[in-house]
Amino acid sequence: MPKYIQESDFTMVEEGFVARDLMEEIINDVSQTDDRDAFFVADLGDVVRKHLRFLKALPRVKPFYAMKCNSSRGVVQILAELGAGFDCASKAEIELVQGIGVKPENIIYANPCKQISQIKFAAKNGVQMMTFDNEVELSKVSRNHPNAKMVLRIATDDSKSSARLSVKFGAPLKSCRHLLEMAKNLNVDVIGVSFHVGSGCMDPKAYVQSISDARMVFEMATEFGYKMWLLDIGGGFPGTDDSRVRFEEMAAVINPALDLYFPEGSAVEIIAEPGRYYVASAFSLAVNIIAKKEVRLDGSGSDGRVHVQYCLNIKAFSKHLLQIPLVSNLWKQAEHLSLTVLLVLLVLHVGF
Ligand SMILES: Cc1ncc(COP(=O)(O)O)c(C=O)c1O
Repeated sequence: MPKYIQESDFTMVEEGFVARDLMEEIINDVSQTDDRDAFFVADLGDVVRKHLRFLKALPRVKPFYAMKCNSSRGVVQILAELGAGFDCASKAEIELVQGIGVKPENIIYANPCKQISQIKFAAKNGVQMMTFDNEVELSKVSRNHPNAKMVLRIATDDSKSSARLSVKFGAPLKSCRHLLEMAKNLNVDVIGVSFHVGSGCMDPKAYVQSISDARMVFEMATEFGYKMWLLDIGGGFPGTDDSRVRFEEMAAVINPALDLYFPEGSAVEIIAEPGRYYVASAFSLAVNIIAKKEVRLDGSGSDGRVHVQYCLNIKAFSKHLLQIPLVSNLWKQAEHLSLTVLLVLLVLHVGF
């Protein structure tokens, strides 16, 4: 079994030392200097606890972490070590997970519109599971990735979600038969159905509708000789416990729908692509207020009052500190931070 975490990658911290302590320590240190760049602290123990919660609440579903949410190396290594799969949306993400030894079968290239060079890259590196929602994608894949195992992404009702993804992605149900027929004609293997109910989903019934729609597409596929075996229920799960619907409440609605439409014994593997669920509560960002000014907002819709505007040094992150109290009491200062990191706890370090 591969080992994704090397102890030498990390430095020990004291037992009981929490992310907040580390953050305050760093703020105290940098306050003595001119180097007051923004930084974040991540509690990787929180990521581990989230993983265990996921497995408990959705026992039939294997999580494929959506790396676009936060591709920090510590998060990726921890999740690989715990046996999660990965939803990659680009060549760079595939390279990152393969670079630490993640096997191609634990990767889904879940981007329905891929550049040809990246499809070729996936083919060369053994990544077979990929999503599609349109004809052009099918013809690109048939020419450039003969061993691809395609997953048809369907559109959802994402009206109760904070980020609506079906505006951009997902085939309407009425197009699915045509897409399956075309896939058959092009000799493309279609192994299943995926969907995303939108990020920050506030209505668990959206999953129920999509799971039922997916069942319909499974039936449709049999008309073309496909025996599909993969259902991908996407992301959309809450990242913190103060969201309108708690993760376990969502799971309590999803599980019966899975049992109804894809009962155990139906030979269908179920995966999900949680993103914010894993990282939102683990990361805390410290930024510096570098300027403050009073502004009066004019124009239509303005209340005419004077507002205080704070400028933060949020564009450039300097330090990335990872802490793993639950796993092995380790922390590391890494060199790189993706700007797509989810900002959960904003700690303002006033220093002007
Ligand atoms: C294809 C896909 N899967 C998963 C995710 C992760 O979604 P969430 O952070 O809501 O779990 C996204 C987010 O944009 C996505 O586009």
